[in-house]
Amino acid sequence: MSSGTGSEPKMEQPTRRIVAGAAMDEDARIDASVRPKRFADYIGQARVKENIEIAIQAARSRGEALDHVLLYGPPGLGKTTLAQIIASELGVTIKTSSGPLLERKGDLTAILTSIEEREVFFLDEIHRLVPAIEEVLYPAMEDYRIDLVIGQGAGARIHPFILNRFTLIGATTRAGLVTAPLRSRFGIVHRLEFYTPEDLVTIVRRSASILGIAVDDDGAYEMARRSRGTPRVANRLLRRARDFAQVRAQGHITLAVAKEALQMLGVDEHGLDEVDRNLMLTILEKYAGGPVGLSTLAASISEEEDAIEEIYEPYLMQLGLLDRTQRGRVATALAYKHFGLEPPRRQPGLF
Ligand SMILES: Nc1ncnc2c1ncn2[C@@H]1O[C@H](COP(=O)(O)OP(=O)(O)O)[C@@H](O)[C@H]1O
Ligand SMILES: [Mg+2]
Repeated sequence: MSSGTGSEPKMEQPTRRIVAGAAMDEDARIDASVRPKRFADYIGQARVKENIEIAIQAARSRGEALDHVLLYGPPGLGKTTLAQIIASELGVTIKTSSGPLLERKGDLTAILTSIEEREVFFLDEIHRLVPAIEEVLYPAMEDYRIDLVIGQGAGARIHPFILNRFTLIGATTRAGLVTAPLRSRFGIVHRLEFYTPEDLVTIVRRSASILGIAVDDDGAYEMARRSRGTPRVANRLLRRARDFAQVRAQGHITLAVAKEALQMLGVDEHGLDEVDRNLMLTILEKYAGGPVGLSTLAASISEEEDAIEEIYEPYLMQLGLLDRTQRGRVATALAYKHFGLEPPRRQPGLF
């Protein structure tokens, strides 16, 4: 059902692929093999995990469906993975779709009417549902009911159809675009955070052992701290470093190999890639540090606005290099320092 690449721009250059993760065949296969299947293997996100584990236990002991769950946060932080783990810990199967895939009401009602008791329905990119389809979800979530319209025109009648009790797990990279009525129908709402380098080291080591890759401690740490706080990026860096190690270093990822691979991929000391740097330097140099509007910025660097908001900005803000203000994007004092530029001088006499 879900192709998983819906809102992600088509990406060809290797550095962009590292960040956004448009699914390549080989990468997709490896993704599946390293994707954690149980809570025990789901690293980090301790608070989210604990809350959800308790809710699952309670629902199980009452024999009820788990409350609906909304997961949000930048791409690659583990939303899809967590949804699959929740279903597996509940001991139920999972049906999957995504906002942009549901074009007609019938697409959604077909899924809802086929859902079994306590099953999980994972709806990715839930912020991209069209309003008419979203409205079908409201009674489905609240009363496990949909209203089927039978017939047409004056003879049309509404038939309530009772669904099995199920759990909707919605995922989105854009919590701000989820409408209030939809959001209010989720009992469990969690934001996934960027991962610490320590958690990412654990993830890199786990993936390396599944894939049979030899990696030194400091090599693993180097990849971890430069992977934008994002497990998907860490796993991708690991794979690229493995290629590099196979050709240049008998398959062993040392610190030197990791550094060289990262350099070849255009990833800098802080894990910024070419698009990140291009974005920041455009604000700093072309727009004198900002503020600059999103659409102007997008046009200047030939990126889609969505990609900038969903993929690049969250990490740049996390690093403290960028601020979003009412008037536009602004580079911080730290950004000037990071890129070795002189901050603009205030001229108090002029004001
Ligand atoms: N907490 C985690 N522990 C270990 N690996 C993770 C974790 N979260 C994500 N991953 C890895 O990162 C990849 C991307 O995660 P995914 O769930 O697809 O992210 P999202 O749906 O948020 O974009 C997965 O294939 C998985 O291998
Ligand atoms: Mg996902």
